[in-house]
Amino acid sequence: MSGETARWWKEAVVYQIYPRSFMDSNGDGIGDLNGIADRLDYLQRLGVDVLWICPMYRSPNDDNGYDISDYQAIMTEFGSMADFDRLLAETHARGMRLILDLVVNHTSDEHPWFIESRSSKSSAKRDWYIWRDGKNGAEPNNWESIFNGSAWKYHPGSEQYFLHLFSERQPDLNWENPEVRAALYDMMRWWLDKGIDGFRIDAICHMKKQPGLSDLPNPQGLRHVPSFERHLNYPGLLDYVDDMCRQVFNRYDIMTVGEMNGASAEQGEDWVGERHGRLNMIFQFEHVKLWETGHRRSPGAGLDVMGLKHIFTRWQTLLEGKGWNALYVENHDIPRVVSAWGDDGRYWRESATAIAALYFLMQGTPFIYQGQELGMTNTRFAGLNDFDDVAARNRAAQLRERGMDEAQILAFLSRSGRDNARTPMQWSDGPHAGFSRAQPWFAVNPNYRTINAARQLDEADSVFNFYRALIRLRKATPALVYGRYQLQLAEHPHIYAYTRSLNDQRWLVLCNLSAQELQVDPHRLALARWRPRLGNYPQGGEPQRLRPFEARVYRA
Ligand code: GLC
Ligand code: CA
Repeated sequence: MSGETARWWKEAVVYQIYPRSFMDSNGDGIGDLNGIADRLDYLQRLGVDVLWICPMYRSPNDDNGYDISDYQAIMTEFGSMADFDRLLAETHARGMRLILDLVVNHTSDEHPWFIESRSSKSSAKRDWYIWRDGKNGAEPNNWESIFNGSAWKYHPGSEQYFLHLFSERQPDLNWENPEVRAALYDMMRWWLDKGIDGFRIDAICHMKKQPGLSDLPNPQGLRHVPSFERHLNYPGLLDYVDDMCRQVFNRYDIMTVGEMNGASAEQGEDWVGERHGRLNMIFQFEHVKLWETGHRRSPGAGLDVMGLKHIFTRWQTLLEGKGWNALYVENHDIPRVVSAWGDDGRYWRESATAIAALYFLMQGTPFIYQGQELGMTNTRFAGLNDFDDVAARNRAAQLRERGMDEAQILAFLSRSGRDNARTPMQWSDGPHAGFSRAQPWFAVNPNYRTINAARQLDEADSVFNFYRALIRLRKATPALVYGRYQLQLAEHPHIYAYTRSLNDQRWLVLCNLSAQELQVDPHRLALARWRPRLGNYPQGGEPQRLRPFEARVYRA
C-alpha cells in the first residue's frame, strides 16, 4: 500500500470560478451566482467535483472582490444570499462540493471595522488595523506595497498612517489582536455552519508582520523598497495558522488550501504535514516564479523544462507520505498557461493538452481555472486603457515614472498582466461569446469564435474532452491519485516523464514540451512493456517518436 491516507479532498478535482467573468444570467454584463448555477451541467460533464468560487462577498470592487466590506453578505452585482444558498444546495444535490475564498489578511476600507478604526486614535477598533505615526513627515517605513507605491496611506482625520500590503483600499488587519481573530473565526464558522465545504485562504503568507516594521536596506536609494520578502512567511505565522485550525478548521470535515507564496519545498511539510494537523494543501509559487523570471531563457529557447522538473519533483518527493500537494498551472493572478508555457499559435491544441497531462497526473489535488479546460489564451490589449486590474494600473504608473515608454509598458503588461486570465468565459461563438446578452464588463478575447465551449463539447479531440478524459482516468485509477511519483529521463531537456506506482500498478506519463519532434530511446523506458491509455495525438505513431507537444499516458 502507499503511505497515503485516503481523503475525499485528495480524490477531488477542483474547478476555480472567477464569478465576474464566468456567466452572466441577467444581462447586466457581469457574471453572477445564478450564472454559475446555470452552468452546473457543464461542470458536471467535465467531471470536476469541487468548485472554488473567488470572492463573492459585498465589496466596492477595488480589487475585484478581494476587498471585502461585509463578509456575511453577497456582492450586489452577483446576486443575493438566497441565490447563494440555492447554488450551494444545487451543488450538493449533484454530489459536488463548494469552497470559498477566505480573504482575511485585509478588508476593504469600506468595512465597518475599518471605518470605526479610522474614526479616531482612541477608537475601540483602532488596534484592529496597523496604524503608526509618520517619521520625519513621511511614511512610518520605506516598504513598497505589492501593488506598487508606499505600503502606507495617511489618514488626515486621525493623523496617522495605516498599513496596506496590497492596494490602499485594502488595509491590513492586525492579526496580533485576539479580538480580530475571534471576529474572523466567528465569520468562518458562520459559513461553515451554512454547509460550505472549505476555504482557499487568500494571502495567508502575509498575515504575520515583522514586529518592528522597520525600514528595509535601501542601497539603491529607491523611494519605496519592495518589501515582499520581509513580510512573507515571517516567523510566528504558523502560530496564527495553528490557532485558526484549532479554533475553526479542525472542527469540520472540510478542505483547506492556503495561498502560500514564499514556501520552499523544504517548508512544505510545516504547512501540510499530516502530523501537524494544519492545512490540507498549499498553493506553492515556485513554478509560477520560474515562469516570471526565466521561462523563456532566450528567444527560441523554449520553456525551462529542467527548472520545472526540479521544482515539481522536489515538492512531490519531499511531501510523499507526509502531506498533500495542490496541483495548478493557472489561476486568476497569472497569464494563461498555453500562452506562457505552450504555443498558443501553431501547436495551440497540442500544447494545451500536453501541459494538462504534465501536471494533472502528479500526486496531489488538481485545480483547473475556468477556461483552462478550453485552452483559453492570453488576450490582446490595444492600449494601457484596456487594463482593468488595479495592480496593472499601478504598475503602469510606476514604470512611466521610471521613464519606460508606453509601448514597452504595454508589451510588458500584455505578457504578464493578470487581466489575461479575467476575460469572460468563451461559451460559444455567439454575441459576447455567449457570456452575456449585454456588453460584458471586460472585453472578450477576440479568439472566442474559434476557442469556445460549444464547439469543444462536440469535438472528440478538443482540449475540453482531453481534460474530461484525464479526470475520468484519474477518478478510476487509485495509482494516479495515491501512487508514488518518480521522475524519468531526468536529464532530457524537453521531455517531462514520470511514473506513478501503487502496489503492482504502474503508470507512465510522457510529455514532449517542445515544438520539435523528438526520439526517445525505447530501451530507456522499456516502452514495449507499456500500453497506451490516453494521448493527445491519434494513436498509431511510432512509440519512440514524440511529435511536437505530444503527450501519452501508459499503463504497465
Ligand atoms: C491574492 C489574490 C489576488 C488578490 C490578493 C489580495 O493574491 O489571489 O487576486 O489581489 O490576494 O487580496
Ligand atoms: Ca449579471
